Amino acid sequence: MDGNGRWAKQQGRRRLFGHNAGAESVRACCEYAVEHGIRYLSLFAFSEENWSRPEDEVSGLMKLMFKSVLEERETFRKNNIRFRVIGDRSRLPADLLQAIDAVQQETAGHTGLTLIIMLSYSGKWDILQAAQRYAADCLAAGRQLPLDETGFGNLLATAGIPDPDLMIRTSGEQRISNYMLWQCAYTEFYYTPVLWPDFRKNDLEQAIQSYNQRERRYGKVE
Ligand code: IPE
Ligand code: MG
Repeated sequence: MDGNGRWAKQQGRRRLFGHNAGAESVRACCEYAVEHGIRYLSLFAFSEENWSRPEDEVSGLMKLMFKSVLEERETFRKNNIRFRVIGDRSRLPADLLQAIDAVQQETAGHTGLTLIIMLSYSGKWDILQAAQRYAADCLAAGRQLPLDETGFGNLLATAGIPDPDLMIRTSGEQRISNYMLWQCAYTEFYYTPVLWPDFRKNDLEQAIQSYNQRERRYGKVE
């Protein structure tokens, strides 16, 4: 979800104004996903690297997250949405963690869209914590445990969630920026110049139409 800062600057407002406006795009995309039976929607809300932004922007984003989680409770209930947050919890403020845990618990039995907020997340962090857990498991077992791709996938923070089919990046940037590095091995990428606060259902539809025209060969010949 990129381009909030530039969007705010265009209107002569502070960066946080753009982040707040971006919340409306999240709502629109969730609505679209529910209406079209999309099973998983993950949103890269805050990266490990974002912690080094100015303190007021970081705390503003955490507050926005706190407010949004609690405000959207009712939407999750009405639409059978399962809410998940994935990332390095150790860096998140206690009140936010509490709100996240409460809403995750509340929605755990929901069977519609799984909405995943990647928060304090980075792909390298994820791979590293998986490797550390594997090493700890080996140490506890007193031997080198067998490990294959499926097994390693189950150690990642995204365990149990299918790899993304489509990755959309807004605001004209064309890079992965430490997102799901392992999980995106065969993901289709879609780039759009639209800034995140302007991103709406029709933009998501265009991305999906582009995806639908692609042929996925996974390294094979047809
Ligand atoms: C994305 O918008 C939102 C977050 C990273 C939280 P940016 O804040 O990166 O916006 P630009 O890139 O400065 O326009
Ligand atoms: Mg950016």
